[in-house]
Amino acid sequence: MKNIFASAAAILALGLISAVAHAAPILDLKARFHPVMSETGMVVSQEMIASRVGSDILAAGGNAIDAAVATGFALAVTLPRAGNLGGGGFMVVHLAEPNKTITIDYREMAPSDAHRDMFLDKEGDVDNQKARFSIKSSGVPGTVAGLIHAQENYGLLSLKQVMQPAINLAQNGFAVNADLSDSLQSIGLRLQKDSASKGYFYKADGEFYQRGETLVQKDLSKSLMSIASVGREGFYQGKTADLIVAQMKRSGGLITHQDLLNYKAVEREPVCGQYRETKVCTMPPPSSGGVHMLQMLNILEGWDLKSMGHNSADYIHRLVESMRRAYADRSLYLGDPDFFPVPVAQLTDKKYAAVLRSQIDPDRSSRSADIKPGLPDQGGTPKATKESTETTHYSTWDQWGNVVSNTYTLNFSYGSGISVAGAGFLLNNEMDDFSSKPGAPNGYGLVGGIANAIEPGKRPLSSMTPTIAFNSEGKPILATGSPGGSTIITVTMQLLLNVVEFDMGVADATAAPRIHHQWLPDNIYYESGVSMDTLNRLREMGHKVNNKTSRLGATESIQRKAGTRLFGAPDYRREGSGAVPQAH
Ligand code: GLY
Repeated sequence: MKNIFASAAAILALGLISAVAHAAPILDLKARFHPVMSETGMVVSQEMIASRVGSDILAAGGNAIDAAVATGFALAVTLPRAGNLGGGGFMVVHLAEPNKTITIDYREMAPSDAHRDMFLDKEGDVDNQKARFSIKSSGVPGTVAGLIHAQENYGLLSLKQVMQPAINLAQNGFAVNADLSDSLQSIGLRLQKDSASKGYFYKADGEFYQRGETLVQKDLSKSLMSIASVGREGFYQGKTADLIVAQMKRSGGLITHQDLLNYKAVEREPVCGQYRETKVCTMPPPSSGGVHMLQMLNILEGWDLKSMGHNSADYIHRLVESMRRAYADRSLYLGDPDFFPVPVAQLTDKKYAAVLRSQIDPDRSSRSADIKPGLPDQGGTPKATKESTETTHYSTWDQWGNVVSNTYTLNFSYGSGISVAGAGFLLNNEMDDFSSKPGAPNGYGLVGGIANAIEPGKRPLSSMTPTIAFNSEGKPILATGSPGGSTIITVTMQLLLNVVEFDMGVADATAAPRIHHQWLPDNIYYESGVSMDTLNRLREMGHKVNNKTSRLGATESIQRKAGTRLFGAPDYRREGSGAVPQAH
């Protein structure tokens, strides 16, 4: 009995279970899971209203970038736990003409008054409350700059056009779905501590919104209108900026007018790699996602995975051993490339992967304690909070073959829980993604060091992995990505492998049970649906297999098969997600 409780506590500790209970076992998903087909365009996101907004923009003549910007602003209204104006993220964009893939980094930045030890207490230990839930936990928001950069440079419609649906949703309200109602109930204690959040997300008497009731967000609608009318200045300057700075001054936050003014979205070259016939382009640092997904794919490419069988013990063993090594490297080598020389080329080199592969015993598990990078000074087994890992991913695809894969976040569910009073939006708690002290785990149990130490103007290391894959002719075949904190990278990779290695359609690839390992703690996390025989065989190989979890990630993917036929696969692990084909 003790063990059952211990492992349940460990799962909660890693934050792999959302605060919202989802009773349906993953295996049942397959029975009711169908891809949505389109001959033109498609939007898939974690929230159906926002997917419809994106799809309407496609029907109005917008391209995939217009749809992505519209969906991003709509999610800021309809999915307040992760959709945002007060957070940041990453966008991978494939431009059919001139056949080029770019990325937009709109990750939050540490304010200029931030410093390395800002979250340490008198004893030199990390004060997790301060790093995760105080006003100081917020980095300078990047979402508005990122979405506007995409729109201005690659969209066809006007910013006003793509933002109008979000403004309408905030101003007139929308019907709360079961998922939002449940999540606001479960987060109530934390969110209601902040008077602005209490006012924005609960009724006047503090009661929860029930399914079907209308949530109106007037202050948010004004913030959105100001962005729509003057662009980024409508957020980083003027009234909204004043409200952010006033909030900081009232409660000891660090973000200044100058920090807001200085914020820049940055275009970066994608990291691209080859997995057999498939070219994979994904997010470079300051996300660790792309580098480590490619590193793991390089290791895995050396085995005949297909002949082992999907989710066989032999396959999962190899997944785990690749994950263990990649996450060990993550702890030492990854950070903001503008501040630390991240060895991207070395980590994604196939020769390095061959060395790592040669160290993997095909029949025996290794021990994370024996896998080196990052191990010195690491003060014990990482523990994390039981906060849910809310980030959100969406994908858009248009009739011309432009594709967007976007992941953005407030970090934890509802970020710091603190809203900007008068402006109607939540602030991120992304500063916790920095390594506040070498070896001390963040909210996802991830450890790091100097590469990811806090510095003014630096971007905290992320795991977000928005990805686009291409066939041997260079044509896009898949857009995917996931929320899930530390699990984002491994979940995205499994979705990709399910499609390109195991030839699954994107719906089956989404529904298939997932596993996760992140070096520390040394444990395999798995969803229901991995067979007992397989789990026992993994235990015989020496793996620790204690952490069953109700769900890992939520991929919101689009696959292109022959010609222009698109298949959208929302992930039913998150109630409310939806794929909406372009209406003609
Ligand atoms: N905040 C989660 C991530 O960026 O990985």
